[in-house]
Amino acid sequence: MKSNKKLLITIDGPAGAGKTTVSRALAKKLGYNYIDTGALYRGIAYKARQKNITETDDNNLKKICENISLKFINIGEEQHLFSDNKDIEPFIRTEEISMLASAISAKSFVRKALLQLQRDLGSKKRAVFEGRDMGTVVFPNADIKFFLKASVDERAARRYKQLGNDSEQSLYDIKKLIIKRDQNDSQRKLAPLKPAEDAIIIDSTAISAEQATEFMLASIFR
Ligand code: DC
Repeated sequence: MKSNKKLLITIDGPAGAGKTTVSRALAKKLGYNYIDTGALYRGIAYKARQKNITETDDNNLKKICENISLKFINIGEEQHLFSDNKDIEPFIRTEEISMLASAISAKSFVRKALLQLQRDLGSKKRAVFEGRDMGTVVFPNADIKFFLKASVDERAARRYKQLGNDSEQSLYDIKKLIIKRDQNDSQRKLAPLKPAEDAIIIDSTAISAEQATEFMLASIFR
């Protein structure tokens, strides 16, 4: 199903709706690049955490944004985020970094620092971009926009299962963090999480990632 078409596809939605699985699968089927834009916010959050800079310390956060160098490098089938030439992929997926990324992503200077980088990554099209504001702000002229949502209970249950038995977090804790992150991401003034007016909305609560991907493919080749 590899496509010769040069499309730029965006997939926005809240945490845990299955965006990553579906975006990766869609990109693979089309022979396109997959770009996880949340990783970039996580990269800034990780650097702040390492330097013990808190989410309210705008002066030092600005310095990080001015000096950070982020890039994606494919390692096998996986995409790793490098910050200042160091592979930080193993460190950016913790709940602590999720919450810090969400908090700092509300700041205009943080979003500005990442805007051009994201647009440059999309300049050749043939890419699937996953995030919160892909279809609304970063690529308002994207060829096809999707918004993937799912109920809070289902998203929490999926995350709980993904963390496995070793996790110290209860289902209740995970649900609370998801609700908090939804609030942060959708109630912020800048580039809030919301579907673009021309987005195709898919509710993945009761369907599998494979079904969501097939539905997207059908919409693309309609
Ligand atoms: O997709 P993710 O969970 O890795 O994203 C982490 C945080 O980064 C998310 O809570 C909000 C922020 N983010 C954003 O503001 N805009 C994006 N396009 C992607 C992520």
